Amino acid sequence: MGRVTSARQTRVLLASDPESVAYAATVILDGGLVAFPTETVYGLGANALDATAVAGIFLAKDRPTSDPLIVHLVDHTWLVKVTEGVSTNARRLAEQFWPGPLTLVLPKAPLVSGAVTAGLSTVGVRVPDHPVALALLRAAGVPIAAPSANLFTRPSPTRAVHVLEDLEGRIDVVLDGGPTRVGVESTIVDLSVPSPRLLRSGGTPVEAIETVLGKRLLPPPPPRLGPQSAPGMLESHYAPRTPLVLVSGPPAHARDRLLEAVRGALADGKRVGVLLLDEDASLFPTEVATVPVGSYADPTGVATRLYESLRALDHQGTDVLFARLLAEPASGLGRALADRLQRASVHRL
Ligand code: TXA
Ligand code: MG
Repeated sequence: MGRVTSARQTRVLLASDPESVAYAATVILDGGLVAFPTETVYGLGANALDATAVAGIFLAKDRPTSDPLIVHLVDHTWLVKVTEGVSTNARRLAEQFWPGPLTLVLPKAPLVSGAVTAGLSTVGVRVPDHPVALALLRAAGVPIAAPSANLFTRPSPTRAVHVLEDLEGRIDVVLDGGPTRVGVESTIVDLSVPSPRLLRSGGTPVEAIETVLGKRLLPPPPPRLGPQSAPGMLESHYAPRTPLVLVSGPPAHARDRLLEAVRGALADGKRVGVLLLDEDASLFPTEVATVPVGSYADPTGVATRLYESLRALDHQGTDVLFARLLAEPASGLGRALADRLQRASVHRL
């Protein structure tokens, strides 16, 4: 049975060692908590069929129990066991995009504990595209409920060291499989409603999903509509501890306004950090702490570095951080980048 206390000794195991995965699977089956790499970000996993083990996830992350978890499956065959009335749309999207960074929200089957779904009648499911995640799922033989393996509201972890930064002493095992490939979370689509709705942009481009469905997705509900609106929609999320100010607008404009805002903060005696685009290199006075995030022209590369760079900025000992929107108009992966930066920021200019 799962242990619900949060004090645990955390073992870091190299995922490349097959014995590590086998051991981690026994920890899962024993009701423990295992952080593991997926193609998007590291997840914090527990046996999705064990309500006590799942309760441990919320405790370890300081996550409100009203925020439902994504259930990870080893392959499509589990879809009919954890969900009910799999629609043609669900089948099409699963065939096209799994394994991969797409989560489908569907009516849940009784097998899935209400502890996973925050009492909702729906469940979010996906098949991750990462050999370590799939090996763990195969060895455990059960679906694994896993949110991102960070403390609630912090940037998601893209390396094992980020998991330890947030959760050391709170979880049983970290499987270190190196940096994750995509860097932002899965796209979430709600198929439990009459017309499919986007709940979160992410690693699978919305445009590709719309092509398969043959129609546009409804936009995400506005944040904080009520307790039942998708909780990933909470405004403050993915945030560094230092307040982040986000500058938007057309690129040339945004660049000028960013520089102006940075100069203003320096003049006020503040220590300033900037999430630096290649295009803005050498723009700022030398006393500004910069952390590179890649080029405006390469959203894929920026996605792999975004959370890591936000965490690195937090270690610079500054009073305020600035960034400009990474892609406008936002499409493809750029949409997820814009969304995450907006949620990471406390103020927009
Ligand atoms: O890429 C990912 O999706 C990563 C990896 C580990 O798979 N997971 C992830 O989980 O980002 P998490 O917990 O950080 O975000 C899950 C979000 C919830 O906050 C909620 O917005 C949405 O998924 N979600 C899950 N189940 C849902 C449901 N039944 N109805 C509506 N939204 C749901
Ligand atoms: Mg998360």
